Amino acid sequence: MVRTRSAAHEEWLRRGHTALGGAVTSFVLPETHAVVLSHGLGSRVVDVDGREYIDYVLGSGPLILGHAHPAVVEAVSRQAALGSTFYTLTPAAIELAEEIIRAVPCAEMVKFVSTGSEATFHALRIARAYTGRTKILKFEGGFHGVHDYALMSAFPPEPSDVPTPRPDSAGIPPQVAETVLVSRWNDLDLTRQLIETHAAELAAVICEPLQRALPPAPGFLSGLRELTQRYSILLIFDEVVTGFRLAYGGAQERYGVVPDLATFGKALSGGYPLAAVAGRREIMSVTDFARKGRGEPVAHLSGTLNGNPLAAAAGLATLSVLRQPGVYEYLYRITDQLKAGLRELAAARGVPLRVIGDGPVFQVVFAEDEPRDYAGMLRADRELAVRFGLACLERGLFVNPGEKFYVSLAHTEEDVARTLEIFAAALDAVLLPSGTALA
Ligand SMILES: Cc1ncc(COP(=O)(O)O)c(C=O)c1O
Repeated sequence: MVRTRSAAHEEWLRRGHTALGGAVTSFVLPETHAVVLSHGLGSRVVDVDGREYIDYVLGSGPLILGHAHPAVVEAVSRQAALGSTFYTLTPAAIELAEEIIRAVPCAEMVKFVSTGSEATFHALRIARAYTGRTKILKFEGGFHGVHDYALMSAFPPEPSDVPTPRPDSAGIPPQVAETVLVSRWNDLDLTRQLIETHAAELAAVICEPLQRALPPAPGFLSGLRELTQRYSILLIFDEVVTGFRLAYGGAQERYGVVPDLATFGKALSGGYPLAAVAGRREIMSVTDFARKGRGEPVAHLSGTLNGNPLAAAAGLATLSVLRQPGVYEYLYRITDQLKAGLRELAAARGVPLRVIGDGPVFQVVFAEDEPRDYAGMLRADRELAVRFGLACLERGLFVNPGEKFYVSLAHTEEDVARTLEIFAAALDAVLLPSGTALA
């Protein structure tokens, strides 16, 4: 049931293939399903043929208000007329940093960068500079962007040989792997063992507090907090996804565990290129260039577009909407309707489908047991999840097959009702040919 594309659409795809290798990110749809998008409004995106989709990709998460929210468009337009970049302090950057400090429990000081990858890269460097230690510990299946330290056992094809990481990309010097240890998400005993063994050389433990869509087991994050504190290791929450999404104060507010440093991106700047490292002032101060004059080592952190005023204006406008009463209640309620509806559809069909995640982000997993770590995700039927996603795409949902669904404030109850109809048809489509599990 693949939708046909116009000749003009095919031509855009051909040019995109020639000029860009067919993609601008790692989100690559099969040739049969590839689309070129023209624009977005609210919960919808529209392709160059004028075909509309309910969007659950949302730019891979940033568009928590939906596409082209009037407050964001207005703020960016106003700032654009005043100039787009200055490489120095601006009111927009200062106000956004102040708002992060008000919102986020660990944030006493902020540094802006342009991408989430830069944010985690700098957070790790800051941790190394502050502690004088070299190694970091991360979790198998945890994604922290595309720099060399992050692409370690983020998506290994089989369970890792912990604590030895497996580089996720060609082109990473093998020496980098020697500076990274890998543990298993939600396995506090293993993590305790690794921390106790390597405490003297560990600068930081970094995690996504909601690892992809795998929630932390009760006591796991507080256990990490307690262990890292005991050994003077910094705890870094990568809140690029969870920041301003699970709660206004991010996962640290939702789960009640305060790290030393945290990274933000995506929802923080509502679809414009800006990310941040925030944390305790004493730690963040290692980025202070004045220290260099005093002969002290500095964790060098700079970037041409850091704190870009257009993106900062978009961020301020986004946060002012997110601060309105009832926003998070709405996001949770609408997402719960989608999750509950999909579970019912699966149960009625006898399909072993799990909807995992927390707050307005979820993932559909075909597995007998609810996964609680990366090995559990590997045991799930990913191929079926991808086929389900493709079947949704064919029927008018814009999704990243096999990956997370993001929900925005622009999604309505009508969108939920239509989405559930499509979920039902997509489930039937992927199950019918083999007759699997159908009553
Ligand atoms: C948890 C997490 N950290 C870091 C990143 C990297 O962010 P960016 O794509 O802006 O570099 C991502 C991107 O998806 C992410 O999900």
